[in-house]
Amino acid sequence: MYSQALQDPTGADGAGPQDDRFQARIDAEDRIEPNDWMPDAYRRTLIRQISQHAHSEIVGMLPEGNWITRAPTLRRKAALLAKVQDEGGHGLYLYAAAETLGVTREELVEQLLTGRAKYSSIFNYPTLSWADIGAIGWLVDGAAIMNQIPLCRCSYGPYARSMIRICKEESFHQRQGFEIMTVLARGSAEQQAMAQDALNRWWWPSLMMFGPPDQQSQHSDASMRWKIKRFTNDALRQKFIDATVPQGHFLGLTFPDPVLRHNAASGHWDFGTIDWDEFRRVLAGDGPCNRERLAARRRAHEEGAWVREAALAHAARQRAVAQQREAE
Ligand SMILES: [Fe+2]
Ligand SMILES: [Fe+2]
Repeated sequence: MYSQALQDPTGADGAGPQDDRFQARIDAEDRIEPNDWMPDAYRRTLIRQISQHAHSEIVGMLPEGNWITRAPTLRRKAALLAKVQDEGGHGLYLYAAAETLGVTREELVEQLLTGRAKYSSIFNYPTLSWADIGAIGWLVDGAAIMNQIPLCRCSYGPYARSMIRICKEESFHQRQGFEIMTVLARGSAEQQAMAQDALNRWWWPSLMMFGPPDQQSQHSDASMRWKIKRFTNDALRQKFIDATVPQGHFLGLTFPDPVLRHNAASGHWDFGTIDWDEFRRVLAGDGPCNRERLAARRRAHEEGAWVREAALAHAARQRAVAQQREAE
């Protein structure tokens, strides 16, 4: 999945000569690497954004993991299993990218488990039917791709590089979701109704994935100047709507937005008002599944303690063996 535009950089540090040199490198499209000098605010912004992104990948495994045992065929089960596993991998690359900025994995996990860190609000909605798995791949992974493709050119090297592989995998996720929707939309009346119901429930939350409107996200200026971000929230949201509405119409589905219509003058799809109160509520912890998601992560962390201990013990033993060989 996916990074929600939640980042709120605190602004540039100052205007010293180092800051000027740093900005000149950014302007020249130079990549910033872990050992390079960087303003504290740039580092903090990236730690927050990359870790929120990592948490979203990991929590994003839960709503779909819930359907692995109930996928309708072996082929669907294998594809869904591979997708959920990919999301776990995305989380790991991203935690590793965040660690290059001087934060530890333990701190990041602690922030998630104590509820101090944010993750994408989309994963706090329940998956009620098999069609939701189609809608998530089509819409949620589709929105993720829209958000993440520009991040492949992010000014911070480790983040940009991790995005290249992640985007390739996301495009497989999007296609498997759209293919599920295609089969349902061409199926029985009951299957068509399932596809429509899933679109009705996932459409608005997927538009919220791009974050608050530009007018309200007062801090995105710094991210744009640092080339962490290349497009504004509203620009990406519009791009996603323009790409997705024709796909939904191809499926014969109706979007749950009476205002949605093609604007011949602008060439874009005009759409209705997003319920930002709902967005803020879900983000603040009061969505349909926030408590359940965090409880599942905490349980997994506790039950996985023996794996971490065993891995550390193994690594210590390997180190001791290597040292002994060197001494001989
Ligand atoms: Fe992902
Ligand atoms: Fe994905």
